Amino acid sequence: MSEKKRILSGMRPTGPLHLGHYFGVIANWLKLQEEYDCFFFVADWHALTTEYADPTRTKGFVPGLIKDWIAAGLDPDKCVIFQQSMVKEHAELFLHLSMITPVGWLERCPTYKEQKTQLVQKDLNTFGFLGYPVLMASDILMYKPCAVPVGIDQLPHLELTREIARRFNHLHDTQLFPEPADLLTEDPKLPGLDGRKMSKSYGNSIMLSEPIEDIMPKIRGMKTDENRLRKTDPGDPDICNLYPYHKLMTDAAKLPDIQQGCREASWGCVDCKKVLMESMEAFLTPFHERRAACTDERVQEILEAGNRKAHEFASKTMDEIRTLLNFDF
Ligand code: TRP
Repeated sequence: MSEKKRILSGMRPTGPLHLGHYFGVIANWLKLQEEYDCFFFVADWHALTTEYADPTRTKGFVPGLIKDWIAAGLDPDKCVIFQQSMVKEHAELFLHLSMITPVGWLERCPTYKEQKTQLVQKDLNTFGFLGYPVLMASDILMYKPCAVPVGIDQLPHLELTREIARRFNHLHDTQLFPEPADLLTEDPKLPGLDGRKMSKSYGNSIMLSEPIEDIMPKIRGMKTDENRLRKTDPGDPDICNLYPYHKLMTDAAKLPDIQQGCREASWGCVDCKKVLMESMEAFLTPFHERRAACTDERVQEILEAGNRKAHEFASKTMDEIRTLLNFDF
């Protein structure tokens, strides 16, 4: 392995990725893969903490997630792409870390308290759900990364990971686990179709893999500057929900004209949406082509190679841990 610094991150396979994921998380990963040794993995065991009653759904989402990653530009030659459940060492480390993690740390975790009150339709009074951050700590510490790129919602888990690392190191008088820093992903740059955060559960998303014909009516129905009631009223791109899309997807050279057309009411929202439709199509078409080229066989190949590399790394870490704990029988 090279001298580059190492980072790791993961995603639960809960469905197809949308544009919010792309501009929030994946675009960041694409940059990182050029600078770091990256491990990116599908956290399928984590999906089970809430989806335990219906595991087949999780299985169905795994290949699609890999295809979305590859289509977006993750390069299996530059990063290790793997599947958590195929590297069994994660479960073994999870067991060891669960021995030393105080229950109070987990019960106090804000994501635990929040999700338990929000996802009331599921029974989340389970040991596995409480232990979510311990499994996450195992995923992370296994690869001794210097940092973990995550969204702000995951910061409590990263803090717990550092606390667990510290406790392990202290108990066993070792430096085995470095404490990983957080590489915070910026705030979402792209709102959903209705101006709220883009989220599958709000039904305000555009999926990366969605056919162009299905996206067009969604754009037509998007909310714009709500103070602009008539085409002759001047609008304000700074409060319009469409403009962030232009900023990310439309050729930068066109942006001044778009701004001006809106502010001077020399064109209407329908015209503005037409331009966005063209930009969206130009943006997504190469993605769709790469996704179509990424067959199920290719997904298998990528995962087999990635799982092998991850396993190699993980088995070294587990050897060290077994030796340290006198469990090297
Ligand atoms: N909890 C993360 C999420 O929901 C997914 C995840 C699992 C993860 N293990 C991880 C992220 C390890 C970073 C590192 O987004």
